[in-house]
Amino acid sequence: MELLGVIGNPIAHSLSPVMHNAALAATGRQGVYLPFLVEHAELAQAVYGARALGFTGLNVTIPFKEHVLPYLTELTPEARRIQSVNTIAFIDDRIVGHTTDGIGFTAAAKSELDFDFSRKAVLVIGAGGAARAITAELLARQCRVYITNRTYQRAEAFRELAGSARLQLTAVPMHPEALQPIMGQVDVVINTTSVGMAKPSAQNPGRESRADVPIPAELLLPQHLVIDIIYNPKQTLFLRLAQEKGCRTQNGVGMLVWQAVKAWEFWWGIAPPVEPMYQAIEASLS
Ligand code: ATR
Repeated sequence: MELLGVIGNPIAHSLSPVMHNAALAATGRQGVYLPFLVEHAELAQAVYGARALGFTGLNVTIPFKEHVLPYLTELTPEARRIQSVNTIAFIDDRIVGHTTDGIGFTAAAKSELDFDFSRKAVLVIGAGGAARAITAELLARQCRVYITNRTYQRAEAFRELAGSARLQLTAVPMHPEALQPIMGQVDVVINTTSVGMAKPSAQNPGRESRADVPIPAELLLPQHLVIDIIYNPKQTLFLRLAQEKGCRTQNGVGMLVWQAVKAWEFWWGIAPPVEPMYQAIEASLS
């Protein structure tokens, strides 16, 4: 019996267990995948404990993707590039950290829309951890990346990801006047912020406002592919307005599924069947 799990805090909301267990059941692989709530002060014990118990691997989620680095014996080039780990493999005495967030993102677009990101021009909205993983992957695919963020300094700090290919990454202030001139040049617009996420405690759940979209939808053009990495709700207001503009759209379920597919490839070198994984997510969200 193989042991796997996800560590985070909070963790109860994580859809990884249903998704991975559905894939395990579909393949007949003898294994179980569990959620683990870990206190920050006990992160090292959690990682070393999983190794001592013979775990095959772990996923790592918020808030530990960076904090877990000191407890790993090595990083893949992808994880080293962004200093963030969402997948750990225990291989003999080694604790290997990898990130599948970026490759999962591009694999989802390839699989769901047959969209190839190579050399595309992309506007990334947001400059948090998810944006960092996606941006690094896009730069590796020689995309021209524009990055905009509420806190401009965080977007500017992404220049370091571009390294010698600095010219391919441009920080843009989050103002319509600054964004408008670049919209005609970009192929893809990606929301990586939490703007538009379901709020269980919302006072006026039916009410929509400008605060529910990351940038004004008037900026979108029909030729844009618009991707929101939010999966709850499945269709954010931003995606709905993008569709009304005639844009192709994709929600965050694909990234969720495909980062897990890439974790399987890292643990076992095989891709799980995605259909049961999508079904497990759909069932959990509805
Ligand atoms: P994650 O790891 O999921 O990307 P994060 O690191 O907390 O999460 O980043 C959240 C992103 O959403 C940031 O880009 C944040 O903008 P700031 O850097 O200015 O904080 C963005 N964000 C969150 N709430 C926002 C809001 N109400 N309006 C605009 N941007 C918001």
